[in-house]
Amino acid sequence: MTHIGSYEDRRKNFTWAISERELEYKDENVINIGEYCSDRICRMGKKDKLALIWENHTGEERRYTFDDMRVLTNTIAAYLQKLGLKPGDRICLFMDKVPELYFGFLGILKMGGIAQPLFSAFGSESLVTRLADAQTAAIFTQRKHLAKVRNILAEMPSLKHVIVVDDDGSRPLREGELAFHMDKEERVEHFDIYPSKAETPSVLHYTSGTTGKPKGAQHVHYSLISQYITAKYVLDLKDNDIYWCTADPGWVTGTSYGIIGAWANGATQCVLDSGFEASAWYRFIEKHKITVWYSAPTAIRSLMKEGEEPIKKCNLSSLRHLASVGEPLNAEAVIWSEKVFGLPFLDTYWQTETGSMVISNYPGMKIKPGSMGKPFPGITATVVDLKTFEPITKAGIVGLIAIKPGWPSMFRTYWNNVETYRSKFKNGWYISGDRASIDEEGYFWFVGRDDDVINTAGHLVGPFEIESALLEHPAVAESAVVGKPDPVNMEVVKAFIALKPGYEASKDLDLDIMNFVRKKLSALAMPQEIEFVRSLPKTRSGKIMRRVLRAKEWGEEIGDTSTLEND
Ligand code: WT7
Repeated sequence: MTHIGSYEDRRKNFTWAISERELEYKDENVINIGEYCSDRICRMGKKDKLALIWENHTGEERRYTFDDMRVLTNTIAAYLQKLGLKPGDRICLFMDKVPELYFGFLGILKMGGIAQPLFSAFGSESLVTRLADAQTAAIFTQRKHLAKVRNILAEMPSLKHVIVVDDDGSRPLREGELAFHMDKEERVEHFDIYPSKAETPSVLHYTSGTTGKPKGAQHVHYSLISQYITAKYVLDLKDNDIYWCTADPGWVTGTSYGIIGAWANGATQCVLDSGFEASAWYRFIEKHKITVWYSAPTAIRSLMKEGEEPIKKCNLSSLRHLASVGEPLNAEAVIWSEKVFGLPFLDTYWQTETGSMVISNYPGMKIKPGSMGKPFPGITATVVDLKTFEPITKAGIVGLIAIKPGWPSMFRTYWNNVETYRSKFKNGWYISGDRASIDEEGYFWFVGRDDDVINTAGHLVGPFEIESALLEHPAVAESAVVGKPDPVNMEVVKAFIALKPGYEASKDLDLDIMNFVRKKLSALAMPQEIEFVRSLPKTRSGKIMRRVLRAKEWGEEIGDTSTLEND
């Protein structure tokens, strides 16, 4: 029997024009993601349907219909325009997962701005690196993060407006800081939405690489075409679904599927603005009768660690479809979720640069636990030889995941860094930087990254950014940062440090250095372990060989060390 939406059927008949047709988009038309996620859904007769059910760790709840969202995003767009902000200006969102973050994102797009979401746990240095690169003009933030913004103002002359969304007057704001209350502002029923076209820039998401500063992957409004249809086919969103994407919009999953893909499908979304806690998560699913749940392997492994007891205490029968992204999803996790929820987590693979899912498992497709699945219909993906970039035709051989350019949500450049952008294309393919193999049935199996970037709990951190921060510590002469295996977070940051003369390794120094990085960058970038060494392995040309240190941590073969300086 063929499943109605079987993978083979969909692949055979698919073109992106299907998505364009469903969205009533034609070449050269206006396409504004802000409009598509709110006004259009209202026009389709769903204005009183809930768009957002928000809850925080204290149990406070806020609910918004699609019409509320339409009006509030108008209100934000009009406010930004009144401030004098212009289409194309970069406007940063630096907030926890509060409703203002979600509506601010769409409001920015409605006035033609480029939304630049940044993870609110970032410290001042992580923040300024990304804002200075983008020459950001305005930033939305909360009181609790204001000190970090104030720290960087001297270095950020372009940043004209600091907009505080939850000012309560308890401590005075400084000159140039603006109190903005989305719910108290005069409601703007009608706003002239910016007539963006397919190639108008929409979102700037910063992602870490091995060398140099984080890069801003720049997306355009046309990304909607693949975000909408992948959310529909892979997340299987239907009109009566209650959907929960656990990702933070500081990262691409939280925008592509925590905002755009879901709302363009008119789905009701739940947001839990609090940290991870297994029983709180299960209660959240039970309370809101969540049906579709998109999460990440680290969270799933953390749930596994808590065992079945908290699951038995809740009624989770509303769940009907689970998916995962961000890191390799272990086969055990898929098998476990089948056992405890009666449903497997379906793995999906993509990147900040791809903007939407490119390889994944689908409802109705045979699942091989541990495999990422197959290319999305409309996506041509393969693995290519590590050196020649020629497609590998034999099953089971490891190569680099490569995708034929041209899918709608592909990033259009790295902000200010077109050379690095170009370097990602080889032999007519976009090279993802991940290694994988393909089996006889066309399923992709993830092997690992092809660079030194560390994936901790689904978040990429660049070793270079951490090493640079470490160098600013008075005791550090040089350092190398690698990923070290971790049962829950997949990898955690480990730093090898050579101290300056006069400094002695000690537990206190260890903690001091860890905290130093946490404050500057973030808790994700903080080394979980420090090993003090006399010197670091280097190539003859003086480059630190992270590969050697990493292989030791993972118990792997070190490989070719012929270029090592001190071997
Ligand atoms: C990198 C992209 C786009 C989602 C959030 C991360 C790794 C992503 C998987 C998966 C194994 C995965 C890759 C990729 N990754 N999904 N299903 N299996 N690895 O976006 O921060 O740009 O990270 O995350 O290494 O290149 P990102």
